Amino acid sequence: MAIQESSKASGLRRLFSKRKPSTTVSSSSADRNNLHLAEAMEKGWEITPGMYQQSAKDHLWLHFTRHSPFQTQDMPIIARGEGHYIYDINGKKYLDGLSGLFTNALGHGRPELAAAAQKQMLELDFMPLWSYAHPRAIELAERLLKHAPKELNRIFFTTGGGEAVETAWKIIKHYNKLTGNPLKHKVISRMTAYHGTSHGALSITGIAAMKKFYEPLVPSTFRVPNTNWYRAPKEFATEEEFGQWAANRLEEAILMEGPETVAAFYVEPIQNSGGCFTAPPSYFRRVREICDKYDVALVADETITGYGRSGHMFASERYDIRPDFMVTAKAITSGAQPLGALFMKEKYFEPFTKGTNILAHGYTFAAHPVACAVAIATLDIFENERIIEHVQKNSPIFRNTLERLHDLPIVGDVRGDGYFFAIELVRDKVTRETFNDEESEKLLRGFLSKALYEAGIYCRADDRGDPVVQLAPPLTIGPKEFNDIEAMLRDVLTRAWERI
Ligand SMILES: Cc1ncc(COP(=O)(O)O)c(C=O)c1O
Repeated sequence: MAIQESSKASGLRRLFSKRKPSTTVSSSSADRNNLHLAEAMEKGWEITPGMYQQSAKDHLWLHFTRHSPFQTQDMPIIARGEGHYIYDINGKKYLDGLSGLFTNALGHGRPELAAAAQKQMLELDFMPLWSYAHPRAIELAERLLKHAPKELNRIFFTTGGGEAVETAWKIIKHYNKLTGNPLKHKVISRMTAYHGTSHGALSITGIAAMKKFYEPLVPSTFRVPNTNWYRAPKEFATEEEFGQWAANRLEEAILMEGPETVAAFYVEPIQNSGGCFTAPPSYFRRVREICDKYDVALVADETITGYGRSGHMFASERYDIRPDFMVTAKAITSGAQPLGALFMKEKYFEPFTKGTNILAHGYTFAAHPVACAVAIATLDIFENERIIEHVQKNSPIFRNTLERLHDLPIVGDVRGDGYFFAIELVRDKVTRETFNDEESEKLLRGFLSKALYEAGIYCRADDRGDPVVQLAPPLTIGPKEFNDIEAMLRDVLTRAWERI
């Protein structure tokens, strides 16, 4: 029996090893008789990296990923995470320069989070927040509010950022209908901002290329300029002046649409898409003023900036944004469980305390007890290990280390805050000329993404705006890792320039 199994296993291995990347079967031509991995697992046969590779090509659909290169190349398969590093299926180690996907603020493989999950699974493994509450959701809401801007008092849980973006819009629309402003439903957001993929969240997103195949989307969303200071027109002498101009475009848009129809303005405190666009506090002060004047809800989308990324628990505090709603997700559990939390002012909840009023909205897995337990354990670590202080102390060192890259001809700008930085790549440093579409394609997809990964750093080369390399490493790293990141980027960006 054992001999039979091992000969079958070696047969399977031969089958997979014969499939070199250049001759792999495309997923479109794969048939349904190819569940070799499942068969090997059932029978207890040894499973090789090649088997995973082929199976992924045959059956997985990666998110936001071009699959055409996998006809001839392998896809990266990450099998393990520990501390600040992730490891691929062949055992190669990578510095996690993106904290998973802006999620793993505390690094990978935290035993405290695993213990909290296990304990909760045995105590109460599931209960929805539909008509019932459970202790972990109740505890977590208060623990979160302790760190939030003091005007916020109520939390609606979701399973992620996009759902919280969507939920805020629905609550605001419904609130306005209940409080005598039935026409107020429109949303204004910023150019190039990403707010999620569901039809509502995608409507609020400001990236045309991401939307065009899914139109018509939810109507009634409008865009205003973001705060890309590096690309601001020369007429602005200071960032403050530019910020005031950008904020005033919000007022213009509200007036153009009719204030009685505009419900909300969505803004990321540091805009990820386009490359870490920060804004001076005076920008947010003016935005707050405009929102107050026209009774427009200010929604801070802190999906990325929440939970320490900016060097404060929430960037709304860092920039004194004073939002009406705050969208958070990702690092709320340090990535170990899916969870989102939408914070809001009590005034938006009040009408729903009356009579038969009900918000007809919810998600089966939102506030999953295990996710809530892990989030509480995450907050414990933030407090016990003084993560925020660590980021505040080290952020200037991180910035200075990255700014050393300014001596490279391809580096136009280094910007960001906290542990969240973008390096904008340019064709000409002096004129700030960027790359055309073809060059950008060749540089980012053809070389950079792969070269960074091969150099041992997992981070993002992004061209939703102008080409940038995005960095958002675990909040627990320090100067040694900053130097490692700089060295790897220096090597890869030097080689990128030679190819232009
Ligand atoms: C600012 C912002 N909003 C919303 C989202 C959507 O979050 P999720 O993917 O959890 O739905 C993201 C995701 O990266 C984001 O960066």
